[in-house]
Amino acid sequence: DSAEAAGTESSAASGDTVTIGFAQVGHESDWRTASTDSCLSVFSADNGYDLQFVDCDNDSAVQLEAVRGFIEQDVDYIIIDPIVSTGWDTVLTECEEAGIPVIVIDRTIDDSDKYVSWVGSNFKTEGLAAGEWLKAYTDAKGISDVNVLVIEGSTGASATIGRTDGFKEIADANGWNILDSQTGDFTQAGGQEVMESYIKSYEGKFNVVVCQNDNEAFGAMDAMKAAGISYGVDGDVILVSFDACTAGLEYVMSGDINADFECNPLAAPFVEEVIKRLQAGETPEKEVYMTEHWFVNEDVLSTINVNGEDQDLTVVTKEIV
Ligand code: AHR
Repeated sequence: DSAEAAGTESSAASGDTVTIGFAQVGHESDWRTASTDSCLSVFSADNGYDLQFVDCDNDSAVQLEAVRGFIEQDVDYIIIDPIVSTGWDTVLTECEEAGIPVIVIDRTIDDSDKYVSWVGSNFKTEGLAAGEWLKAYTDAKGISDVNVLVIEGSTGASATIGRTDGFKEIADANGWNILDSQTGDFTQAGGQEVMESYIKSYEGKFNVVVCQNDNEAFGAMDAMKAAGISYGVDGDVILVSFDACTAGLEYVMSGDINADFECNPLAAPFVEEVIKRLQAGETPEKEVYMTEHWFVNEDVLSTINVNGEDQDLTVVTKEIV
């Protein structure tokens, strides 16, 4: 396998096909589709790869089974986007014993370090950025009473944990009222369902909705529209989202979403660099953070300070693709 090959002639150098198993989370969101497409195009047969792709449909048992299947096939590398952040040490030990390097993308594994590299985003920073933006924005607009409904992502996912923790830190520091925080499972249907139930319980009591991804925001918008609740830059409810996928940015441009905090789905080119380094017998970086931007509709603020650093806001005035 590749661990042995790395010491001699690499598959890439010899022109051999590199076999990769990729255990993807599922197909729950636009972000996920972009992530899958990125991997399929980078790890294509034309580029010298044989990609074994498994859509785990948001089921952790299926994901563990997929990884064990890749071990049986004796693939050269395994890529995992972990549905949940824990429960990994046993199967990663099995990968290690089989001599198959594991590369983790996007969500983190928090109970094992038996992988060679992780490529992704800092979810806590995304949550902090959403909080810092909301603080500066409500100050600028003279809104002192901040009553928030959060629609969380999938339970146990590090993207959910980081965004929840980051935003809550700023909410607590400013005495905001988080009325409720429930999972919408990162889907449009989930976002709509949670928002419909929030409207029944909290109508007239909230002025901010934070959705932990764009698809949930689309569902929340449908629910608010159906209930006659206005949102966005001209509405009664400030709508905050994460991902900044193409459709999300279109809603920022139209003013339906006030602010959208990017999560970069294009990890595959970075993963390919990791694989090239391993093929060359080098040690890749253990953690690779991708660059991300914060998108807003109104030119009210130009920067926000996150983790002690000023970061520019991108005002979306024309189509971004
Ligand atoms: O893990 C990344 C998250 O998962 C994205 O924010 C979300 O859209 C996806 O489903």
